Amino acid sequence: MTAQPQRPAFGSLLSSHMAVASFRDGVWGAAEVKPVAPIELSPAAHVLHYSSTCFEGFKAFRRADGSIHVFRMDRHIARMRQSARQLVLPEPDAVQLKDMVRAVIDRCREAVPEAPGALYLRPILFGTTANIGAAATPASEASLLVLASPVWDYFSGGMKPLRILVDDQNTRSAAQMGMVKTGGNYAAAMGPTLAARAKYQADQVLFCPGGEVQETGAANFLLIRPGEVLTRSLDSSFLHGVTRDSLLTLARDNGYAVAERIFDVKEMLEWVKAGEAALSGTAAVLAGVGTLIHAGTEYRVGSGEVGPVTRALRAQLVAIQQGEAADRHGWLEAV
Ligand SMILES: Cc1ncc(COP(=O)(O)O)c(C=O)c1O
Repeated sequence: MTAQPQRPAFGSLLSSHMAVASFRDGVWGAAEVKPVAPIELSPAAHVLHYSSTCFEGFKAFRRADGSIHVFRMDRHIARMRQSARQLVLPEPDAVQLKDMVRAVIDRCREAVPEAPGALYLRPILFGTTANIGAAATPASEASLLVLASPVWDYFSGGMKPLRILVDDQNTRSAAQMGMVKTGGNYAAAMGPTLAARAKYQADQVLFCPGGEVQETGAANFLLIRPGEVLTRSLDSSFLHGVTRDSLLTLARDNGYAVAERIFDVKEMLEWVKAGEAALSGTAAVLAGVGTLIHAGTEYRVGSGEVGPVTRALRAQLVAIQQGEAADRHGWLEAV
């Protein structure tokens, strides 16, 4: 058996260059591609005090022929613009942001790993106005950066079934902010996630405020069984995952019955007696859940292993991303 090469942890390695643009006097300035280096920021910068920031995360894939394709970039850029609007930050221009992403990939072509790796793209927007009295005043100046990071596995265990703590006490965001990809939501999930790791060796927390199943700290949640998928219907309380949308589309293509509706912890625990559960996201793709922990009791999900339908859906999406299956929905864009 060949030993697995030692890979850097997800996101710990940046590619050499980033793209940068600034918003001032009501307009976005020209973007520049430059070497990744510390940025200058006033200690009074709006973001440092009032968390005026949002970001995105998506991937570019290298094919065997060397060509590079980005997965659903337009959709991620649209979500970034929606996050900016919700946070009253200057909205990035869709064309400019796309050009910035393309420029970074182009500059860092050699850093795009071969499959199953990818180049993870991370646009970030933050308020830079220097004013510590602006709690109720939006930032009028902002920076937009695009970083890139060669990535391999998100969960270091690869296809190891996950242990998930079901939390019906905490929330990961204010009700109107769940659909916004902003740092504060991740900060809110951090404490419960670390506590769940320490107490239950849980990989993630599944937030279920009021008993309604929502999402985990960094991925959407799907219940799966042969010919069927159930997931929460879209509302402002959680992030509208692009991977979630892609998987539901593939499931519908396959003729599965796809239900998007609110369901509770009780129904979920009933489902997993024989069914499957999985987390979806750009980083995780579709990661199978083996165990749910609720109110001190452990519930085995199906056989306790990553389920067959989860594996099949994951493989179907990965094959499209890597150019091994037809891109029937036009999700990939060559760079
Ligand atoms: C909180 C949260 N939910 C869901 C997702 C999945 O979103 P996407 O599939 O667009 O990556 C993410 C990001 O990966 C996330 O951070």
